[in-house]
Amino acid sequence: MPYIADTPSESSIASAHDINEERRRLHHDADVVVVGAGVLGSAISVALADQGRSVILLEKSLKEPDRIVGELLQPGGVEALGKLGLQDCLEDIDAIPVKGYGVFYHNQPVEIPYPNNAVDRTGTQQEPMRAEGRSFHHGRFISKLRAAALSHPNITVFETEVTDMITSQSEISTTIIGVQSLTKKIQKDYFFASLTIVADGYNSKFRKLYSSNTPVSKSKFWGLELQHEDCPLPMPNHGHVILSDNAPLLLYQIGSHETRALVDIPENTPTTSIAQGGVKAHLSSMVLPTLPASVRPAFESAIEKGQLRSMPNSFLPPATNRTPGLALLGDALNMRHPLTGGGMTVALNDVVLIKSLLDPQIVPDLDNTPLVLGQLRRFHWQRKNLTAVINILAQALYSLFAANDPQLRYLQKGCFRYFQLGGNCIDGPVGLLAGIIRQPLVLFYHFFAVAFLSIWVMMCEKGVLSALTGWSALQGFLIFYKACVVLFPYIWAELRS
Ligand SMILES: Cc1cc2nc3c(=O)[nH]c(=O)nc-3n(C[C@H](O)[C@H](O)[C@H](O)COP(=O)(O)OP(=O)(O)OC[C@H]3O[C@@H](n4cnc5c(N)ncnc54)[C@H](O)[C@@H]3O)c2cc1C
Ligand SMILES: *[C@@H]1O[C@H](CO)[C@@H](O)[C@H](O)[C@H]1NC(C)=O
Repeated sequence: MPYIADTPSESSIASAHDINEERRRLHHDADVVVVGAGVLGSAISVALADQGRSVILLEKSLKEPDRIVGELLQPGGVEALGKLGLQDCLEDIDAIPVKGYGVFYHNQPVEIPYPNNAVDRTGTQQEPMRAEGRSFHHGRFISKLRAAALSHPNITVFETEVTDMITSQSEISTTIIGVQSLTKKIQKDYFFASLTIVADGYNSKFRKLYSSNTPVSKSKFWGLELQHEDCPLPMPNHGHVILSDNAPLLLYQIGSHETRALVDIPENTPTTSIAQGGVKAHLSSMVLPTLPASVRPAFESAIEKGQLRSMPNSFLPPATNRTPGLALLGDALNMRHPLTGGGMTVALNDVVLIKSLLDPQIVPDLDNTPLVLGQLRRFHWQRKNLTAVINILAQALYSLFAANDPQLRYLQKGCFRYFQLGGNCIDGPVGLLAGIIRQPLVLFYHFFAVAFLSIWVMMCEKGVLSALTGWSALQGFLIFYKACVVLFPYIWAELRS
């Protein structure tokens, strides 16, 4: 047997591993430091550690989170989780399969199933599978992701709150070389790495220092937890979108016994003023009557229990990272209205993409900051096929569904009529929303098809004769103009670097 000098023996692999572990634990030194063990931070730690990187993951609280966000994972997110080998994180958390959406427009229902998974990846002649999502308690899913990181031999997790970046200054640039943190509120700690990934969520402490974009929030989601047994949903295993004269409302089951209601309330809604009785009064007098009858009693008792919680619904376009040694990711980098439940699907697909772009075959050494920055620029553009679609769709649908002017109301009605046509008129839009179709052009095609259908709906309502008058032509033009005004700013936001 020839002696192969460059093949490490079992024991030398083990000792390299021990040395890395010791470097992380005692010297707080690794290839990658990740700030925040949410969806993105936990998943990317595992992804990079699987490639042999030494990873430190920092989280301010390892207690199971209790939040009203990130409770429905689209099929495109489930698929990404599988690619990362993390599909087990959806097991044993009492997750509910999601087969599509039910849209209720002034109580008129239309079912929008997820389409077939377009490609058969196994290559065998099986029946095409319907795509499926999952809904669950956010905290249980996060705890599973964190457990995967905690048990990984190449990751060390610390419970500590990151307070500052550590930088190294040169004449030409500032490089991030690590972070400073506070452990148990008293002890200062320092962690060093070639690459610092900041994934500290929607209210990111570090975004303002390293990104030129700031989030804009024009509404909040108010969350209620309903007793599932008391509110049979009209379409089980579907996300429900309730459209009325109010802003949109979502309903979906998050466990065997719990159903989540998320009620969008735009800023300065008059019926939420203190004089009118606040949000509670708005929910009882304005929102309750618009719900499917089967849901009303449970909704009413949840209002009475009064455990109302809210979260801002933000829009934040992504920006290219230009700081050596740093990558801002997840909600810290990019947010869209949660109406379409796209955030975690974006985060997990970003992890899949980053993992391939930073593969040790391409980037052997993360200290090579010019190479890493180049790969992060590629990341910014390559993620667009999926994320631009999800971002633009979320913002455009929200603008329509929270309609507050005549043209928008016609677009809203047109959109619902479009869904009622079925076939490709639902497969396309829901495939985009689900993170299955990664083609921005498909989005524009459907959006303008909706705009033209809305004009047709308006003309039919006004009578055939009026269609011949200048008034109708003007209205038609205004509707089309409004569609452009809704869509173009979001497209523009995606085209900037
Ligand atoms: C109302 C609402 C509903 C939503 N519903 C859905 C949905 O149904 N489906 C979906 O896909 N998306 C949904 N989203 C979006 C989704 O929640 C986010 O996109 C996703 O959670 C982003 O993951 P993240 O890892 O970037 O941030 P987070 O999951 O927020 O994780 C950030 C982590 O960083 C930690 N942290 C913060 N600061 C520090 C610090 N200084 N030091 C150490 N740790 C720190 C936090 O404790 C947290 O664990 C919703 C959003 C909102 C607002
Ligand atoms: C951990 O990293 C080593 C390289 O240091 C690598 O060989 C090993 O496969 C990684 N372990 C896992 C479980 O991915």
